[in-house]
Amino acid sequence: MPGAITTGWGIGLPANIVTNADLESRLDTNDAWITERTGIKQRHIGGTTSELAIMAGKEALKSACVLPEDIDILLLATTTPDERVPGTSAVVQNALGISGGAFDLNAACSGFVYSLIVAHGLIGVGAKRILVIGSETLSSITNMNERTLAVVVGDGAAGIVLERTEGPGELLSWDLGADGSLRHLLYCEHGGYLFMDGKEVFRRAVRIIVNSAQKALGKTGFDSTDIDLFVPHQANARIVEAARERLGIPSEKAMTTIDRYGNTSSSSIPLALVTAVCEGKLKKGDLVLLSGFGAGMTWGSALLRFGG
Ligand code: UT7
Repeated sequence: MPGAITTGWGIGLPANIVTNADLESRLDTNDAWITERTGIKQRHIGGTTSELAIMAGKEALKSACVLPEDIDILLLATTTPDERVPGTSAVVQNALGISGGAFDLNAACSGFVYSLIVAHGLIGVGAKRILVIGSETLSSITNMNERTLAVVVGDGAAGIVLERTEGPGELLSWDLGADGSLRHLLYCEHGGYLFMDGKEVFRRAVRIIVNSAQKALGKTGFDSTDIDLFVPHQANARIVEAARERLGIPSEKAMTTIDRYGNTSSSSIPLALVTAVCEGKLKKGDLVLLSGFGAGMTWGSALLRFGG
Protein backbone atom coordinates (compact mmCIF):
# COMPACT_ATOMS: atom_id res chain seq x y z
CA MET A 1 0.00 0.00 0.00
CA PRO A 2 1.25 3.53 -0.71
CA GLY A 3 2.23 5.58 2.33
CA ALA A 4 1.78 9.25 3.15
CA ILE A 5 3.84 12.06 4.61
CA THR A 6 3.05 15.41 6.18
CA THR A 7 3.99 18.20 3.78
CA GLY A 8 2.32 21.27 5.30
CA TRP A 9 0.82 22.57 8.53
CA GLY A 10 -1.11 25.51 9.91
CA ILE A 11 -2.76 26.94 12.99
CA GLY A 12 -5.97 28.97 13.50
CA LEU A 13 -6.45 30.76 16.80
CA PRO A 14 -8.95 33.40 17.90
CA ALA A 15 -7.23 36.74 18.58
CA ASN A 16 -8.83 37.04 22.02
CA ILE A 17 -6.46 35.77 24.74
CA VAL A 18 -7.92 35.16 28.21
CA THR A 19 -5.30 35.02 30.96
CA ASN A 20 -5.68 33.53 34.43
CA ALA A 21 -5.75 37.10 35.76
CA ASP A 22 -8.76 37.82 33.51
CA LEU A 23 -10.59 34.79 34.95
CA GLU A 24 -9.58 35.77 38.48
CA SER A 25 -11.41 39.08 38.03
CA ARG A 26 -14.79 37.41 37.32
CA LEU A 27 -14.70 33.92 38.86
CA ASP A 28 -13.89 32.54 42.31
CA THR A 29 -10.51 31.26 41.18
CA ASN A 30 -6.86 32.33 41.12
CA ASP A 31 -3.73 32.02 39.01
CA ALA A 32 -1.95 29.86 41.63
CA TRP A 33 -4.75 27.23 41.66
CA ILE A 34 -5.08 27.12 37.86
CA THR A 35 -1.32 26.94 37.30
CA GLU A 36 -0.69 24.30 39.96
CA ARG A 37 -3.72 22.08 39.17
CA THR A 38 -3.66 22.35 35.35
CA GLY A 39 -0.49 24.09 34.07
CA ILE A 40 -2.61 26.61 32.13
CA LYS A 41 -1.61 30.31 32.06
CA GLN A 42 -3.79 31.53 29.20
CA ARG A 43 -6.17 30.30 26.48
CA HIS A 44 -7.60 31.71 23.23
CA ILE A 45 -11.37 32.11 23.30
CA GLY A 46 -13.73 32.97 20.43
CA GLY A 47 -14.61 32.37 16.80
CA THR A 48 -16.54 29.46 15.35
CA THR A 49 -15.23 25.98 14.63
CA SER A 50 -15.43 26.62 10.87
CA GLU A 51 -13.68 30.02 11.07
CA LEU A 52 -10.76 28.57 13.03
CA ALA A 53 -10.55 25.52 10.75
CA ILE A 54 -10.51 27.77 7.65
CA MET A 55 -7.58 29.75 9.11
CA ALA A 56 -5.63 26.57 9.90
CA GLY A 57 -6.51 24.99 6.54
CA LYS A 58 -5.42 28.03 4.50
CA GLU A 59 -2.08 28.12 6.29
CA ALA A 60 -1.54 24.36 5.89
CA LEU A 61 -2.27 24.48 2.12
CA LYS A 62 0.08 27.43 1.70
CA SER A 63 2.90 25.78 3.62
CA ALA A 64 2.51 22.56 1.59
CA CYS A 65 2.37 24.60 -1.67
CA VAL A 66 -0.80 22.71 -2.53
CA LEU A 67 -3.83 24.20 -4.29
CA PRO A 68 -7.30 23.60 -2.78
CA GLU A 69 -8.41 21.80 -5.95
CA ASP A 70 -5.64 19.25 -5.43
CA ILE A 71 -7.10 18.11 -2.08
CA ASP A 72 -9.06 14.86 -2.46
CA ILE A 73 -10.57 14.82 1.03
CA LEU A 74 -11.01 17.29 3.88
CA LEU A 75 -11.25 15.47 7.20
CA LEU A 76 -12.31 17.68 10.10
CA ALA A 77 -11.99 16.36 13.64
CA THR A 78 -14.35 18.22 15.94
CA THR A 79 -16.57 17.66 18.92
CA THR A 80 -18.02 21.19 18.65
CA PRO A 81 -19.57 21.41 15.14
CA ASP A 82 -21.14 24.77 14.26
CA GLU A 83 -24.45 23.08 13.35
CA ARG A 84 -25.98 19.63 13.75
CA VAL A 85 -26.36 19.39 9.96
CA PRO A 86 -24.42 19.71 7.72
CA GLY A 87 -20.97 18.80 8.98
CA THR A 88 -18.71 21.78 9.70
CA SER A 89 -16.37 20.33 7.05
CA ALA A 90 -18.93 21.40 4.38
CA VAL A 91 -18.50 25.07 5.34
CA VAL A 92 -14.71 24.73 5.50
CA GLN A 93 -14.53 22.86 2.18
CA ASN A 94 -16.53 25.59 0.44
CA ALA A 95 -14.57 28.46 2.00
CA LEU A 96 -11.21 26.91 1.08
CA GLY A 97 -12.34 26.04 -2.46
CA ILE A 98 -11.69 22.33 -2.06
CA SER A 99 -13.44 20.24 -4.70
CA GLY A 100 -12.90 16.84 -3.06
CA GLY A 101 -14.94 15.08 -0.39
CA ALA A 102 -15.41 16.44 3.12
CA PHE A 103 -16.56 14.92 6.37
CA ASP A 104 -16.45 15.48 10.14
CA LEU A 105 -15.09 12.94 12.61
CA ASN A 106 -16.04 13.07 16.28
CA ALA A 107 -13.87 11.01 18.61
CA ALA A 108 -13.66 13.82 21.19
CA CYS A 109 -10.09 14.61 22.28
CA SER A 110 -8.77 11.57 20.38
CA GLY A 111 -10.32 12.96 17.19
CA PHE A 112 -7.13 14.09 15.49
CA VAL A 113 -5.33 10.77 16.01
CA TYR A 114 -8.41 8.89 14.76
CA SER A 115 -8.56 11.22 11.73
CA LEU A 116 -4.89 10.78 10.97
CA ILE A 117 -5.22 6.99 10.89
CA VAL A 118 -8.37 7.22 8.72
CA ALA A 119 -6.52 9.61 6.38
CA HIS A 120 -3.62 7.17 6.01
CA GLY A 121 -6.20 4.47 5.19
CA LEU A 122 -7.76 6.69 2.51
CA ILE A 123 -4.32 7.24 0.99
CA GLY A 124 -3.92 3.47 1.00
CA VAL A 125 -7.06 3.11 -1.16
CA GLY A 126 -6.13 5.79 -3.68
CA ALA A 127 -6.45 9.34 -2.27
CA LYS A 128 -3.46 11.56 -3.13
CA ARG A 129 -3.77 14.53 -0.78
CA ILE A 130 -5.81 14.91 2.39
CA LEU A 131 -6.24 17.96 4.58
CA VAL A 132 -6.67 16.83 8.19
CA ILE A 133 -7.78 19.51 10.64
CA GLY A 134 -8.69 19.49 14.32
CA SER A 135 -10.90 22.47 15.20
CA GLU A 136 -12.77 23.22 18.40
CA THR A 137 -14.70 25.93 20.18
CA LEU A 138 -15.06 24.21 23.55
CA SER A 139 -16.04 27.54 25.11
CA SER A 140 -19.31 27.32 23.12
CA ILE A 141 -20.43 24.22 25.07
CA THR A 142 -18.94 25.18 28.45
CA ASN A 143 -20.64 27.11 31.22
CA MET A 144 -18.05 29.89 31.38
CA ASN A 145 -19.48 31.04 34.73
CA GLU A 146 -18.63 27.70 36.38
CA ARG A 147 -15.00 27.79 37.47
CA THR A 148 -13.94 24.14 37.21
CA LEU A 149 -14.27 23.81 33.43
CA ALA A 150 -14.17 27.52 32.51
CA VAL A 151 -10.49 27.69 33.49
CA VAL A 152 -9.57 24.56 31.53
CA VAL A 153 -11.06 24.97 28.05
CA GLY A 154 -9.64 26.80 25.05
CA ASP A 155 -10.60 27.34 21.39
CA GLY A 156 -8.37 26.80 18.37
CA ALA A 157 -7.54 24.74 15.31
CA ALA A 158 -4.55 23.17 13.60
CA GLY A 159 -4.17 21.04 10.54
CA ILE A 160 -1.79 19.20 8.26
CA VAL A 161 -1.61 18.25 4.60
CA LEU A 162 -0.94 14.56 4.12
CA GLU A 163 0.38 13.53 0.69
CA ARG A 164 0.85 10.14 -0.92
CA THR A 165 4.44 9.12 -1.36
CA GLU A 166 6.33 6.27 -2.94
CA GLY A 167 7.40 3.83 -0.24
CA PRO A 168 6.08 3.23 3.25
CA GLY A 169 5.32 6.82 4.36
CA GLU A 170 5.54 8.20 7.90
CA LEU A 171 3.00 6.11 9.83
CA LEU A 172 4.89 3.29 11.54
CA SER A 173 2.15 1.98 13.85
CA TRP A 174 -1.08 2.95 15.54
CA ASP A 175 -3.51 2.03 18.26
CA LEU A 176 -7.16 3.13 18.46
CA GLY A 177 -9.60 2.15 21.19
CA ALA A 178 -12.87 3.02 22.87
CA ASP A 179 -14.95 2.06 25.90
CA GLY A 180 -18.46 3.45 25.51
CA SER A 181 -19.47 2.23 28.98
CA LEU A 182 -17.57 5.30 30.27
CA ARG A 183 -19.72 7.83 28.42
CA HIS A 184 -21.09 9.19 31.73
CA LEU A 185 -17.66 10.55 32.74
CA LEU A 186 -17.55 13.25 30.07
CA TYR A 187 -20.46 14.34 27.87
CA CYS A 188 -22.50 17.22 26.51
CA GLU A 189 -26.16 16.73 25.57
CA HIS A 190 -27.72 18.76 22.71
CA GLY A 191 -28.25 22.31 23.95
CA GLY A 192 -26.54 21.59 27.27
CA TYR A 193 -23.16 22.28 28.82
CA LEU A 194 -20.13 20.05 28.98
CA PHE A 195 -20.05 17.79 32.05
CA MET A 196 -16.84 16.15 33.26
CA ASP A 197 -16.13 13.97 36.27
CA GLY A 198 -12.66 15.50 36.35
CA LYS A 199 -11.18 13.33 39.08
CA GLU A 200 -12.31 10.05 37.50
CA VAL A 201 -11.17 11.10 34.01
CA PHE A 202 -7.84 12.19 35.47
CA ARG A 203 -7.45 8.87 37.30
CA ARG A 204 -7.98 6.88 34.10
CA ALA A 205 -6.18 9.23 31.69
CA VAL A 206 -2.59 8.40 32.59
CA ARG A 207 -3.18 4.64 32.44
CA ILE A 208 -5.02 4.95 29.11
CA ILE A 209 -2.30 7.07 27.48
CA VAL A 210 0.49 4.83 28.70
CA ASN A 211 -1.27 1.61 27.60
CA SER A 212 -2.13 3.00 24.17
CA ALA A 213 1.35 4.46 23.60
CA GLN A 214 2.94 1.16 24.62
CA LYS A 215 0.63 -0.78 22.28
CA ALA A 216 1.65 1.44 19.34
CA LEU A 217 5.33 1.13 20.25
CA GLY A 218 5.00 -2.63 20.80
CA LYS A 219 4.00 -3.15 17.16
CA THR A 220 7.44 -1.86 16.11
CA GLY A 221 11.01 -2.53 17.14
CA PHE A 222 11.14 0.86 18.89
CA ASP A 223 10.81 1.65 22.57
CA SER A 224 10.25 4.90 24.44
CA THR A 225 13.98 5.73 24.54
CA ASP A 226 13.97 6.01 20.72
CA ILE A 227 11.32 8.75 20.68
CA ASP A 228 12.44 12.23 19.62
CA LEU A 229 9.17 13.94 20.56
CA PHE A 230 6.14 12.84 22.59
CA VAL A 231 3.02 14.82 21.69
CA PRO A 232 0.20 13.87 24.06
CA HIS A 233 -3.30 15.35 24.33
CA GLN A 234 -2.99 18.55 26.36
CA ALA A 235 -5.70 18.04 29.00
CA ASN A 236 -3.70 18.82 32.11
CA ALA A 237 0.05 19.36 32.59
CA ARG A 238 0.00 16.87 35.49
CA ILE A 239 -1.43 14.15 33.20
CA VAL A 240 1.23 14.87 30.54
CA GLU A 241 3.93 14.75 33.21
CA ALA A 242 2.75 11.50 34.80
CA ALA A 243 2.31 9.75 31.43
CA ARG A 244 5.71 10.93 30.22
CA GLU A 245 7.39 9.69 33.40
CA ARG A 246 5.71 6.27 33.27
CA LEU A 247 6.72 5.88 29.64
CA GLY A 248 10.32 6.76 30.53
CA ILE A 249 10.49 9.75 28.18
CA PRO A 250 12.72 12.66 29.32
CA SER A 251 10.90 15.94 29.99
CA GLU A 252 12.68 17.81 27.18
CA LYS A 253 11.18 15.31 24.72
CA ALA A 254 7.55 15.92 25.75
CA MET A 255 5.72 18.74 24.00
CA THR A 256 3.68 20.97 26.30
CA THR A 257 1.42 23.69 24.98
CA ILE A 258 -1.35 23.59 27.57
CA ASP A 259 0.17 26.68 29.26
CA ARG A 260 -0.76 28.85 26.23
CA TYR A 261 -3.77 27.11 24.62
CA GLY A 262 -5.59 25.27 27.48
CA ASN A 263 -7.49 22.09 26.64
CA THR A 264 -8.65 22.34 23.01
CA SER A 265 -9.90 18.74 22.60
CA SER A 266 -9.39 17.50 18.97
CA SER A 267 -7.17 20.52 18.27
CA SER A 268 -4.77 19.95 21.13
CA ILE A 269 -2.52 17.33 19.49
CA PRO A 270 -2.24 19.10 16.09
CA LEU A 271 -1.71 22.45 17.85
CA ALA A 272 1.13 20.92 19.86
CA LEU A 273 2.53 19.16 16.76
CA VAL A 274 2.49 22.27 14.56
CA THR A 275 3.86 24.44 17.38
CA ALA A 276 6.72 21.94 17.76
CA VAL A 277 7.51 22.18 14.03
CA CYS A 278 7.37 26.00 14.11
CA GLU A 279 9.67 26.13 17.15
CA GLY A 280 12.20 23.74 15.59
CA LYS A 281 11.48 21.00 18.15
CA LEU A 282 10.32 18.57 15.46
CA LYS A 283 12.05 18.04 12.14
CA LYS A 284 11.92 15.70 9.19
CA GLY A 285 12.99 12.18 10.12
CA ASP A 286 12.20 12.50 13.85
CA LEU A 287 10.36 9.70 15.60
CA VAL A 288 7.19 11.24 17.06
CA LEU A 289 4.59 9.60 19.26
CA LEU A 290 1.08 11.10 19.38
CA SER A 291 -1.26 9.95 22.16
CA GLY A 292 -4.77 11.13 22.85
CA PHE A 293 -7.71 10.21 25.08
CA GLY A 294 -11.08 11.75 25.74
CA ALA A 295 -14.84 11.46 25.95
CA GLY A 296 -16.39 8.17 24.95
CA MET A 297 -14.02 7.22 26.32
CA THR A 298 -11.82 7.01 23.28
CA TRP A 299 -8.08 6.81 22.91
CA GLY A 300 -5.51 6.63 20.16
CA SER A 301 -1.78 6.68 19.50
CA ALA A 302 0.28 7.00 16.35
CA LEU A 303 4.01 6.47 15.91
CA LEU A 304 5.36 8.52 13.00
CA ARG A 305 8.70 8.98 11.27
CA PHE A 306 7.81 12.63 10.70
CA GLY A 307 8.01 13.61 7.03
CA GLY A 308 9.01 10.04 6.11
O1 UT7 B 1 -9.67 16.42 27.59
C1 UT7 B 1 -10.48 15.35 28.00
C2 UT7 B 1 -10.04 14.74 29.26
N1 UT7 B 1 -10.01 15.66 30.35
C3 UT7 B 1 -9.13 15.54 31.35
O2 UT7 B 1 -8.29 14.69 31.30
C4 UT7 B 1 -9.24 16.41 32.56
C5 UT7 B 1 -8.97 15.60 33.80
N2 UT7 B 1 -9.27 16.31 35.01
C6 UT7 B 1 -8.61 17.43 35.44
O3 UT7 B 1 -7.72 17.92 34.76
C7 UT7 B 1 -8.93 17.96 36.79
O4 UT7 B 1 -9.85 17.10 37.43
C8 UT7 B 1 -9.48 19.41 36.81
C9 UT7 B 1 -8.40 20.39 36.41
C10 UT7 B 1 -10.67 19.54 35.86
C11 UT7 B 1 -9.94 19.76 38.22
O5 UT7 B 1 -8.84 19.58 39.13
P1 UT7 B 1 -9.01 18.71 40.46
O6 UT7 B 1 -7.72 18.74 41.11
O7 UT7 B 1 -9.60 17.38 40.08
O8 UT7 B 1 -10.05 19.60 41.27
P2 UT7 B 1 -11.43 19.22 41.95
O9 UT7 B 1 -12.55 19.41 40.98
O10 UT7 B 1 -11.36 17.92 42.69
O11 UT7 B 1 -11.50 20.34 43.05
C12 UT7 B 1 -10.53 20.41 44.13
C13 UT7 B 1 -10.83 21.68 44.92
C14 UT7 B 1 -12.29 21.80 45.32
O12 UT7 B 1 -12.34 22.48 46.57
P3 UT7 B 1 -12.53 21.66 47.96
O13 UT7 B 1 -13.79 20.88 47.79
O14 UT7 B 1 -11.31 20.81 48.07
O15 UT7 B 1 -12.62 22.75 48.95
C15 UT7 B 1 -12.88 22.67 44.24
O16 UT7 B 1 -14.01 23.37 44.68
O17 UT7 B 1 -10.53 22.83 44.10
C16 UT7 B 1 -11.71 23.62 43.98
N3 UT7 B 1 -11.74 24.16 42.62
C17 UT7 B 1 -11.19 25.34 42.31
N4 UT7 B 1 -10.57 26.28 43.04
C18 UT7 B 1 -10.12 27.37 42.40
C19 UT7 B 1 -12.24 23.59 41.51
N5 UT7 B 1 -12.04 24.39 40.45
C20 UT7 B 1 -11.38 25.48 40.92
C21 UT7 B 1 -10.91 26.65 40.31
N6 UT7 B 1 -10.29 27.56 41.08
N7 UT7 B 1 -11.03 26.88 38.98
